[in-house]
Order: sequence, then C-alpha cells, then structure tokens
Amino acid sequence: MGIVSTISCPKCGYEPPSRTVFQCSQCRSILEVHLKIDQLTPVDFQRMRQSQDKSIWRWFEFFPLAQRSSIVSLGEGNTPLLPATRLGAKLGIANLYLKNDTVLPTGSLKDRSNSVGLSVAREWGFKTAAVMSTGNAAASVAAYSAAAGINSVVMVPAATAASKIIQARAYGATVVVIDGSFDYEVAKLYKAAVQEFGWYDCLSSNPYRDEGKKSYAYEMADQFDGESPDWVIHPTAGGTGIFAMWKGYKEFLSLGWIERAPKLVAAQSDAAAPIVAAFEKGVFDIEPVVARDTVAESIQVGNPVSLGWRALAALRESGGTAVAVSDAEILEAQALTGRLAGIFAEPAAATSVAAAKKLRDSGVIKPDDVVVCNLTGHGLKQPEAIRLTDKDFTPIAPTLEMLREQIARFGINCGR
Ligand SMILES: Cc1ncc(COP(=O)(O)O)c(C=O)c1O
Ligand SMILES: [Zn+2]
Repeated sequence: MGIVSTISCPKCGYEPPSRTVFQCSQCRSILEVHLKIDQLTPVDFQRMRQSQDKSIWRWFEFFPLAQRSSIVSLGEGNTPLLPATRLGAKLGIANLYLKNDTVLPTGSLKDRSNSVGLSVAREWGFKTAAVMSTGNAAASVAAYSAAAGINSVVMVPAATAASKIIQARAYGATVVVIDGSFDYEVAKLYKAAVQEFGWYDCLSSNPYRDEGKKSYAYEMADQFDGESPDWVIHPTAGGTGIFAMWKGYKEFLSLGWIERAPKLVAAQSDAAAPIVAAFEKGVFDIEPVVARDTVAESIQVGNPVSLGWRALAALRESGGTAVAVSDAEILEAQALTGRLAGIFAEPAAATSVAAAKKLRDSGVIKPDDVVVCNLTGHGLKQPEAIRLTDKDFTPIAPTLEMLREQIARFGINCGR
C-alpha cells in the first residue's frame, strides 16, 4: 500500500493535525504529501516493471492511497516513448523522443493526476468532485468521477473550445461555463463554491492528486531501462507536471533505482509565461501576469498560484531551464509533429517541440543530447487550430481530371 508518512508545508514545515487538509493554516502554501518508500528495494523495481498491470498503478507504493480496492483506473499511463527520427533530423536533435500522452484515456496528461485524485476521493467517501479548468482537466475529472461513481462539477472559462465542453458533458459532468478569465473570475467563484458546497477539490491545490504526474519519471526510468535522458521538456501551466516529475525522479534517485536525473524544461506560451519570467529574473516567487489569448489555450494560465514556485525550484535543482514560445512557433511545431512524427498534438502540447527547436537553435541542447518532449494533449481536443479553408471541404466531381487538379493544389508529389 502507499503509506503516507507525513503531510507538511514545504515552505514553513507546519504539519496539520488532519491528513485531509490541503493548505497550510500558517502561510497558506499548498501542503505536500510524503510517502514512506525507504523500505522498497531494487527487487520491487523489477516487480513493478514486470507487472501485468501496465497502468500508473503498478507504482502503487508511490501513491497516497491505502487500499488497492479504492483505485479508479481507466488504464492510464505507460504511454509510448517514441524515437522521432524524422522530426529529430529536422530539428537537428539526433536522439529525440516523444512521450505520447495524447493516447491517455481522455486524451490528455490530466488522467495521470485524476486517476490518483479520484481514487483518494473514493477512499475518503466523497460524493461530488469539482474542478475549474481550461478544458482538459474538466474532461478528465468528469471521466474519472464517472468511473468512480462520484458526481462532478466542472467550471470552465467562456473561451474554452466547444470540443472540450462536449467531452466533459459526455461523461455526465455538470459543466458550468463562466463569463470571465480563468485566473480571476473563474478562480474566485471556484474557491467560494468548493467552500460553500464542500466538494472534493481536484485542482493542483490538492496535494494528493498532484502525486499522479510523478508517473512520468517512473515510466521513463522503465522505458530507458534505468537510464535518464539529458532533457525532458514539458508544456507548463500550473507547474504540477514539472514539480511532480522532479519529485518522482528524486524518489528513484534516493532509492538508487536511477543514477542521474534529466534536466527539466518548462515550455510556456509567451502569452502566459510567468514561470519563464521568474526563471529568467532569478527570483523564487512567481509574479502573476495577465494571460493573453494564445493558440495554446490549455496552458493559458497567468497565475500558477499553487505550485508555480515549486516548479521553478525543480527547474533550477535539475539544472534545466524555462522557455517561452510564440503562437507561430507553436503552430509550426504542431504541424511538424503531425507531418514528421505522425502524432496530432494540440497546440499547448506542441509547445514542448517548439521549445526543443528553440533550445537546439540557440545551442543549449547539443546535437547528440537525448531529449524527450512530452506531448500532453490530443489535437482533436482543439481541432479548429488546424486552419483549413472552404476549398478543403468542397467536393470535386468524381473524375480523374478533377482528382489530378486537386492533388496538384497540395503541391505534394503523390506519384508511385
Ligand atoms: C495539454 C496540456 N499540457 C500541459 C499542461 C500542463 O499543466 P501543468 O503545468 O499543471 O502540469 C496542461 C494543463 O493545464 C495541459 O492541458
Ligand atoms: Zn506553511
């Protein structure tokens, strides 16, 4: 079982009397769950690697859940780590890998954390789970709640893509679209509502749920056979992915299951890049920014209030960096990933590839470095990002002559 040794404040050290408290009563920081893992041995590592269960739950002892019977799983995890030779050649990175999280059950990385979060909710006996979201967490919380037999309420800002709202509704969630921005109006109402109704909070302010993304580190340690890449680049909004991945790597280092960890990179849209700004300034706290509109709508977060500062610390501890990319760079990376690697990633997810290109172009990444780009959300989440014209949908007369004309329009050699 996953044994919680302590829950404590990472800033002031405070330990609350109850393990169901999420926030420090002294300094308002989000608390951190610590697991008792020091009894695990390399034999456990091999057992976990060889488990028939390929979901994140083969790493059960690393998650804060007492009973296996509480697990809420849709088969998340163990996503492909694909060598991307053609894309790598284009970017000048000989050893480029794509960690393809677009194939997760609801199409985004959020399933890693919500599988853990909703399992804890079930173990604690909650009836309703809630989240506010730029879209992907909404669908994920809705799906895992459905699997758990828990009702869900999801709150999304008005700018959210219709496909994401439709997906959350399909899982039976109560979806509320709110007039206002994610960071301010939606956040304020969400906080008040969770207090008012006593819902289970599925945000990054829930330290139990945050543990789920540690599974990136465990899976990569398995997939690289105990080795680590030089770099892992992660599309970043609230900072949970970077924080949790680093925590997972540190756990494996402490157990001696790996010898070194990768340098972590936070990739952000330049329209919402508070973590990049703080990294570049050399400060330890994040100054919130007003997020501008960006094609990377899933990571349009200007105020990563819960875990931003911890992600920042993780970037520095790992020797990594933070990179902001423009919408044009993101769309180019999305197109290249589709055309040269066969993966349709949503724009937010393609920020990792855009950042890889930028870091290679500036010489930070060396030609032979082993680089992993996390592709965190499926392109079908936001299909309107692929800009087509009416011509693309207009049928042609069924003749070879018209077919030839159409093929010529694409300018691609479709010969034998
Ligand atoms: C597609 C996608 N990528 C990445 C993230 C990164 O989030 P975080 O920084 O909280 O790990 C999100 C979540 O908002 C997302 O939806
Ligand atoms: Zn504190």
